[in-house]
Amino acid sequence: MTRATLLENGLVIDGTGAAGWIGDVLLVGERIAAVGQQVRQRLPEGLALQDVNCVDCSGLAIVPGFIDVHTHDDAIVLKTPDMLPKISQGITTVVSGNCGISLAPFVVAKPLPPLNLLGADSFRFDSVAGYERAVSAAQPAVNVAVLIGHTTLRFACVADLSQPASASELDAMCALLTRCMEEGATGLSSGLFYEEAFAAPAEEVVRLAQVVARFGGVYATHLRSEMQTIIEALHEAGDTAFRAGVPLVISHHKCAGPDNWGRTRETLPVIEALAARQQVAMDVYPYVAGSTVLREDLVDGVIDILVNWSTPHPEMTGRTLASVAAEWGVDQKAACRRLQPGGACYFQMQEDDVKRVIAHPLSMIGSDGLPHDQHPHPRLWGAFPRVLARYWRDEKLFSLETAIYKMTGLSARNFRLHERGQLQPGWHADVVVLDPARVRDVATYENPIALSEGIEKVFVNGELAYAAQGTAAQASQARVQARAGRLLRRHAPPV
Ligand code: ZN
Ligand code: CU
Repeated sequence: MTRATLLENGLVIDGTGAAGWIGDVLLVGERIAAVGQQVRQRLPEGLALQDVNCVDCSGLAIVPGFIDVHTHDDAIVLKTPDMLPKISQGITTVVSGNCGISLAPFVVAKPLPPLNLLGADSFRFDSVAGYERAVSAAQPAVNVAVLIGHTTLRFACVADLSQPASASELDAMCALLTRCMEEGATGLSSGLFYEEAFAAPAEEVVRLAQVVARFGGVYATHLRSEMQTIIEALHEAGDTAFRAGVPLVISHHKCAGPDNWGRTRETLPVIEALAARQQVAMDVYPYVAGSTVLREDLVDGVIDILVNWSTPHPEMTGRTLASVAAEWGVDQKAACRRLQPGGACYFQMQEDDVKRVIAHPLSMIGSDGLPHDQHPHPRLWGAFPRVLARYWRDEKLFSLETAIYKMTGLSARNFRLHERGQLQPGWHADVVVLDPARVRDVATYENPIALSEGIEKVFVNGELAYAAQGTAAQASQARVQARAGRLLRRHAPPV
């Protein structure tokens, strides 16, 4: 007998941005079968009410499953397939391979920075097909769409990473990327900010983006600079995507460093001007701290820096760099060098900038969580509920419908995820039931590993994947119920 669940009397928010209304959503098998009112009175033929699991959703909202468009979850979906940090936020699909760093296609025993953001021992896949087999075997709780990282391609094909790829190396990168796209990758990502990619001229990325264009894929980029030269970096990204003919996603848009605070007043109009010429979107996480590997050039002695992990000094995890430096009697740059390899939170943004980006019509939500960090940035466990609690309910930056749209319909459209991101009959049954009055993030910089509240039920491909226990005290009893995620192959045929 086919599995059927009827979510009744909830505030149905369909993920298009349209106003919510009180009604029902019927899930049959892996699909949404009906969205409407009094659905129990007109069940599809062959389905009897006694065979349907009816759930009263009075006072709750029924929304599409959230799509985390900016993740580094490539390896964690295999290692910890429960994916509790994500599924407990209502996330049903993650886009992995961001910032130029993807697990496939590259095989190495000991990955160097920045590849080690994906964990220490996971680079085992020379193809997307091999990775997909591993995803199927691991059965993660969430769906995964993969971007192929430019930096990963450089590691696989370029002898000297301090140089642009030679003609033959670039041909090899294009050939590898072609195969990945044939095997269903969603697109290309770059992280030109990272040293291992910084030497790549725009032409190198254009060639790769042209491959992606042939397959109807997308191009996401961590800009060459989010600091002084951010305007130039935005134009480079815009021109690269425009020349190649691909849609552009600007990753985790921010103006970093005190000298650049307030400059989203300049960057957002530039992005709008690009959007008048080409398809452009951006993702954003709802925090004033960024997080990446420990890098001396990001240590300015002004901003606060929190150590997330350190291989030589694990005992300094969770401490500020300033306090470590004081204890060692050295300056912060010297302390940073001693702690490497490691990772940190950098309090490099201004709240007004974060708000301006989150409120912008072209932005969608991506956590950028780093699942391998010992003491992770709280965005890993809390980004999506935080947007709802802080920026919708408290700050009233937008309507609930718009907030949901930025996590679902807009995200699916920008990444061309087929029949996901909206509550539509016939579409995949990725659905969340949440309590708009209670939803909130609990993870903090001090205690970053904590379940959010108010995410009541999460369905992935029609199966109940997660159910909250109601109160915060009981939340620790929350368990991942079913793992029904899969690799989402790019749907668009070659063009
Ligand atoms: Zn990034
Ligand atoms: Cu990232």
